Amino acid sequence: MDNRPIGIFDSGIGGLTVVDSISKSLPHETIHYVGDTARVPYGNKSMERVQQFSKEITQWLVNHECKIIIIACNTASSLALEFLRSKFDIPILGVIEPGVEATLKITMNNRVGVLGTHATIRSGNYVKMLKEYDSTISVVSQACPLFVPLVEEGWFSGDVPENIAKTYLEKIILSGVDTVILGCTHYPLLKDTIKKVLVGDITLVDSGNATAEKVKMVLNKERLNSEHNPNRSINCYVTDSVQSFESLAGKFIETSITSVSYIDAF
Ligand code: DGL
Repeated sequence: MDNRPIGIFDSGIGGLTVVDSISKSLPHETIHYVGDTARVPYGNKSMERVQQFSKEITQWLVNHECKIIIIACNTASSLALEFLRSKFDIPILGVIEPGVEATLKITMNNRVGVLGTHATIRSGNYVKMLKEYDSTISVVSQACPLFVPLVEEGWFSGDVPENIAKTYLEKIILSGVDTVILGCTHYPLLKDTIKKVLVGDITLVDSGNATAEKVKMVLNKERLNSEHNPNRSINCYVTDSVQSFESLAGKFIETSITSVSYIDAF
């Protein structure tokens, strides 16, 4: 039994969708979440920059006694997971592998769409991993960079998000996929709009739930679970305005957040 917190981070507020899944599936675990709101977005930055930011945050979480690190950001999972694993002697999980595993259980026609930031799509990691598991799978990828600012603005539905989604999803619709991976932790907030534009019987995969299952498995295996702890807390740390984070957070997470604090440097 280990009551130390689970450390989770994202470039901003989107990773709260992963915190929500983990907090529901592991109700006794305390969570420290870092949202790097001063430096969001990561999706249009270089690999070196994303690795540097991810290392700083991971070090901060390790210094704050975290027992496992979850990268609740597809961009950082694509560009920095192996890098972080080489630097820290602690279990570190990303969101890509759980999302890929969930997708392979769902697709019936072996045609899959992947949506993500420029950096995630450019890294080719989803395609690579899907094909490693099943070389016959066909994958169509699409970067959707404007989805992140839409979500950060709380603009989830209506004409503007729908028109942007129509433009981004044209190629995906024509490709006949039956499953689409929401390869960015912000995108679950646009689920209804994306679903409406895609039409037909297409399943959207949100890797938050799949990641929560994986975390549970690793904690069990490594004997890192916390003991019965009804007073567990969910503590958020942001690098920019606490107020902006608090005003949007409720849209991303149903579980109640215990505290939001500002941190000014790592
Ligand atoms: N939440 C990040 C992800 O999952 C995207 C936001 C960003 O570009 O920083 O990739």
